[in-house]
Amino acid sequence: MEDLLQKIEGYKNSISAYGVHTTEALEDFRIKYLGTKGIVKAAMGEMKNVPNEKKKEFGKVLNAFKIFAEERYEELKGSLASGENKTTSSIDWSLPGDPIPVGTRHPLSIVRNQIVSIYKRLGFAVAEGPEIEDDWHNFTALNLSENHPARDMQDTFYLNQNPDYLLRTHTSSVQARVMEKQKPPIRIICPGRVYRNETISARAHCFFHQVEGLYVDNNVSFADLKQTLYFFVQEMFGKEVKVRFRPSYFPFTEPSAEMDISCTVCGGKGCSLCKHTGWVEILGCGMVHPKMLENFKIDPDEFTGFAFGMGIERICQLKYRINDLRLYSQNDIRFLRQFTGSV
Ligand code: PHE
Repeated sequence: MEDLLQKIEGYKNSISAYGVHTTEALEDFRIKYLGTKGIVKAAMGEMKNVPNEKKKEFGKVLNAFKIFAEERYEELKGSLASGENKTTSSIDWSLPGDPIPVGTRHPLSIVRNQIVSIYKRLGFAVAEGPEIEDDWHNFTALNLSENHPARDMQDTFYLNQNPDYLLRTHTSSVQARVMEKQKPPIRIICPGRVYRNETISARAHCFFHQVEGLYVDNNVSFADLKQTLYFFVQEMFGKEVKVRFRPSYFPFTEPSAEMDISCTVCGGKGCSLCKHTGWVEILGCGMVHPKMLENFKIDPDEFTGFAFGMGIERICQLKYRINDLRLYSQNDIRFLRQFTGSV
């Protein structure tokens, strides 16, 4: 009897000390202590040898022993489960996730998309062409013959290997490519990057971006041109902004004009951006030169057209007050993060 109690104490000690690292070891534990031929069962079997007057007391001890072994089994099972899945169970699922850095659109893309969407509403389609152009599409077809002085207006990068090719100086070259293939009515805008051999500074860069437009059809007039550009300005800058046209010169348009808008910074009162004139030039435009139409076998007696071209950087400068052209291509994340346009 005393023996048995001592034995049980001994079992309890080994049960407490028992550790498992595998499911097999856990199963061994179960078989050894709790199985049908296990130690607990065997101890229970000893009851029959216990004198009647001690049965009650001994029964309690045996019951407690059984519960002790069962509880230890559950404990070992639990520790095994958490040990096996250590990596996942140590995660605090309630913690917020790591933020994923989200990019923003480049301000030039935002403004280009806005310009494109305004002209699309007027029925203009987007046309694109190559940045490496031949002389014909960039100059000659546009009424700039080889020795035309106006070629100097646009300092051109020619390709070293073959000076018949150049980096386009304006997207008017795309207009040439469209007229080559398509007959009127033509109503297109040409957004894209253009290149000019200029020293890089806050106010000049060797590449920039343009959106040029072309509309050729029967009875297209200067009034249509003015109204189209006026609509654009109101959509882009707001209804209160005024426009004015000044006579100008471009070889591919006649008559030609430059369009100013009332300064969006000072409202026309005069500030450093508008050089205290109250007006800012934003684009060149005019009626397509008859010779240019002829170059593409479009009869100038039947068709007329207008064209315009603007720099996206300038529009962007007016919208966002960006005063240094170099910022657009420096990839400074602090600059780029500031623009959150939705288009
Ligand atoms: N191509 C001209 C430029 O780049 C802009 C322009 C386009 C002017 C169409 C008139 C008509 O300066």
